Amino acid sequence: MLNQVDVIVGLAWGDEGKGKIVSAISKNYNYVCRWNGGPNAGHTVYLKDKKYKTHIIPCGIFHNKKSIIGPNCVVNLNKFYDEIDYLKSEGLDTNLVKVSPKTNIITERHIIYDKLCLQKKLGTTGQGIAPAYSDKMLRRGRLAKDYIDKKYLWDGVLHGKVLCEGAQSFWLDINYGNYPYVTSSETLPYSACSLGFSPKKIKNIIGVAKAYDTKSGVDPLFPEILLDIPEFKMITEYGNEYGSTTGRKRLVNWLRLDYLKHAINISGANKLIINKCDILEKVGMYKIIDKNITKKFNDLDQFKRYIKQSLCKNIKILFSGDKEKL
Ligand code: IMP
Ligand code: MG
Repeated sequence: MLNQVDVIVGLAWGDEGKGKIVSAISKNYNYVCRWNGGPNAGHTVYLKDKKYKTHIIPCGIFHNKKSIIGPNCVVNLNKFYDEIDYLKSEGLDTNLVKVSPKTNIITERHIIYDKLCLQKKLGTTGQGIAPAYSDKMLRRGRLAKDYIDKKYLWDGVLHGKVLCEGAQSFWLDINYGNYPYVTSSETLPYSACSLGFSPKKIKNIIGVAKAYDTKSGVDPLFPEILLDIPEFKMITEYGNEYGSTTGRKRLVNWLRLDYLKHAINISGANKLIINKCDILEKVGMYKIIDKNITKKFNDLDQFKRYIKQSLCKNIKILFSGDKEKL
C-alpha cells in the first residue's frame, strides 16, 4: 500500500540544488520518482565528495532506491542507456531503474527540430523536449513499451513512502511560467500525481530556492545587461552558474521575493530550503529585490531574517548551512 508521498519542487528557474536535497533525504523512502521533463534536466549529487550527475534517472539510484521515470516524462533512449552504463560503471544497481510503458520517446527528428527551430529563439536545451511533447499531444508519439528493453518497464506499483523529484521549476512550468520562455511539461506538484496516486497522498511539498535568481537560457525577465554587472559576474564564478546540461553561462539577479512568494503560494510548499547562501558570503554582498526595491543587508543573518519575516508563517524555512534538519 502507498502510505505517503513527498514532493520536491523547484521554486525558481531551475538549478536550485534539488538533486542535493533529494540525495540527502532519499534514504527515508522506498521509491524516488521523476514525473516530468527529460534529459533537459541535470541533477548533480555529491557522495563522499565525489560528484555524480544524472539527466533522466532519479537521484534515488545513488541510495539504492527504486527509481521510476513516470508516464509524463520524455526519454531519449540513447541517453538513457548511456546513463545506465555510467551508473553501472560506478557500481550502482541499475535493476532498480524502471520506466513507465507510457513514457514518450524522444527521437532524432525531435532533437533536430529543437536545435534548428527553437534553441536560438527560446533558449531551449536542444534535447528535443518540446517536439517530443508535441507529438505526444498529437497522439502520434512513440511509447517506451514498444522501444525499451523490457526489463526496464515499470509495473506501475508504488508502495510505502514515495519521494517525487521535480525537474525544472516553477517559473519553467508550461502553465505558470513566463510563457513561451518555459519548458513543455508541468513542473508543479499537481503533476506528480501523473505517477498514479491521489493528491490526497501528498504530505510534504518541499520547495527549493536559491539565495539569488539565475536563468539558464533566454527570458525577458533576465535581460542580457545582467551579464555586465560586476557583482553578478562574481556570483556566476563563485557559484559556478553554468548550465549543467548545456554549459551555458546562467543569467544572475538578486532574489526577487515577489516571484518566490508566488511560487510558494501556487505550489503549496510547506517547507522551503534556500540553497547557496555560502555564495553570497563569498561575494560579501547580501541583497534582495522586494516589490521592485533592492534591499541591502550587512550580513547573512539580516538577509535570512528579512526572508523569514516576509514569508507566510506556516512554512518551515531552512537555509543551506543551517544545522537544523528538514
Ligand atoms: P527545454 O526544456 O529544453 O525546451 O528548454 C526550455 C527552457 O527551460 C529553456 O530556458 C531552458 O534553459 C530551461 N530549462 C530546461 N530544463 C532546465 C533545467 O533542468 N534547469 C534549468 N533550466 C532548464
Ligand atoms: Mg538542474
